[in-house]
Amino acid sequence: MGAMSDPVDWEAEEERLLQRAAATGDATGWFDDLYAAGASGRVQVPWSRTEPHPLLEAWAGERHIDGTGLSAIVVGCALGADAEYLARLRFETTGFDVAPTAIELARARHPDTRVRYVTADILDPPAEWHHAFDLVVEIITVQALPPPLHPRAIANIGRLVAAGGTLLVISGINDGQPRTRLADPDTLDRAAVASFAADGLEEVSIETRAVPGRSGRRRWLAEFTRRSPEPRKRSTTTEATMSNAHDNQQSAETATPDTVPAVVERATFQAQLDALRVEEKAHTRAGDALAAARRRLPMVEVDAATPLIGPHGPVTLLDVFEGRRQLIGYYHMWYDGRPAKDQCEGCTLYNGQVRELSMLHSRDVTYATLCQGPYEESVRYRDFMGWDVPWYSAQQSLDTLLIGRQIGLLHVVCYVRHGDRVFETYWTTGRGDEALDNSYGLLDLTLYGRQEPWEDSPAGWPQAKANMSYRTNGRPYAQWSRIQAGRSDNLGGA
Ligand SMILES: C[S@@+](CC[C@H](N)C(=O)[O-])C[C@H]1O[C@@H](n2cnc3c(N)ncnc32)[C@H](O)[C@@H]1O
Repeated sequence: MGAMSDPVDWEAEEERLLQRAAATGDATGWFDDLYAAGASGRVQVPWSRTEPHPLLEAWAGERHIDGTGLSAIVVGCALGADAEYLARLRFETTGFDVAPTAIELARARHPDTRVRYVTADILDPPAEWHHAFDLVVEIITVQALPPPLHPRAIANIGRLVAAGGTLLVISGINDGQPRTRLADPDTLDRAAVASFAADGLEEVSIETRAVPGRSGRRRWLAEFTRRSPEPRKRSTTTEATMSNAHDNQQSAETATPDTVPAVVERATFQAQLDALRVEEKAHTRAGDALAAARRRLPMVEVDAATPLIGPHGPVTLLDVFEGRRQLIGYYHMWYDGRPAKDQCEGCTLYNGQVRELSMLHSRDVTYATLCQGPYEESVRYRDFMGWDVPWYSAQQSLDTLLIGRQIGLLHVVCYVRHGDRVFETYWTTGRGDEALDNSYGLLDLTLYGRQEPWEDSPAGWPQAKANMSYRTNGRPYAQWSRIQAGRSDNLGGA
């Protein structure tokens, strides 16, 4: 019988896939299997709400939440109903899910969305999300994971919350009832909900609430906040939290801090700097030792004929070396069909800082962008930004080139060529990207550093960047000078 004409109940399919996952020890892969079965029509698409969760809507409505100038993230966003709702409340919103098919379906369902949909795993979230969001919304994702993984997921969700920010948790209630389905007993008890209050996150309220419009159904509704290190007036209500986050951002951008270090004689200053220099030198030597260890790693062969697209059409990975001995490939993230303003702000920040290649070339090393999107669309972005480093599309070969890594996240990969064979020698992601950066390096030399909430700074130092999204007014920072210069940001798509 045709699968489309007689779909299987998705809860039955969920149970079947869960049993298989439990047997194989794969805690998260089955979600994508389930969405893929949904997308193919074999089961109904799971978690396909088209409306925001009624308790999220009630919570935000009661507080008159306005997200203008604030960032929000939805954990396990499924097909995006909650993320779209937050975008309508004017948050700059990210929705992420471990299932790539869910993310594809979310993008397809909301073709004109302002939400950034990202495939990511809360068990291993991108480093740049640390303390980065003013509002974090978690609705029944933790409970969908096996209980031994709950503490890690809970801790990682808490770490997404920026200083002055809010975490909202909606979850099923584990009241000790015997299990009927494999997924059922993983609902959270009160202690599990309370355990979100850790690592600087404080409980605002934990209550059970009836779900509006669903008679008899009750859920945990819990709110947490991360106090800002800034000494400023605040209340414990969410409304005040949100408006404080506004103030927070403004003050970081406009205020002149009146807190400065003690003024001393030059000799005293120099003596303390000399002491710090000893530590700096130790740090430099430790970096040298790490690089020495990196040079002693083994390597793994990659098919030299792996196809990519370059300015003159199809090329191979070997061609990208441009004849040099080594290659550094930057796997630039890409959102297919999205306008320039929605493209990746992190990649724009980091990749955009690699400009002068002569030193690399002098050491027989090529640097190239291996973009994860289509060539024509993405090279227009390169041109809009005025970058001139080599640019290729690796989209058709990501399964080969990024094997074992998460496609859709930024990666820096180093290769060596031995004759016509190609080998991968190193890769990094997350803060490893800081190897491309000079902005943070320079900021680290300044009195106030990066001015980000996670940094260990003296009390009163400006650290109030509630929004660490590398964006201002809806675009990655670096785009504004190009717009002001009159360049077209038309990528030929949306
Ligand atoms: C029970 S569904 C809930 C979906 C949605 N939050 C809702 O309320 O309808 C759990 C969702 O979390 C996603 N998920 C499961 N494990 C995850 C993980 N480790 N990281 C991110 N998302 C995950 C699943 O793919 C699924 O979309």
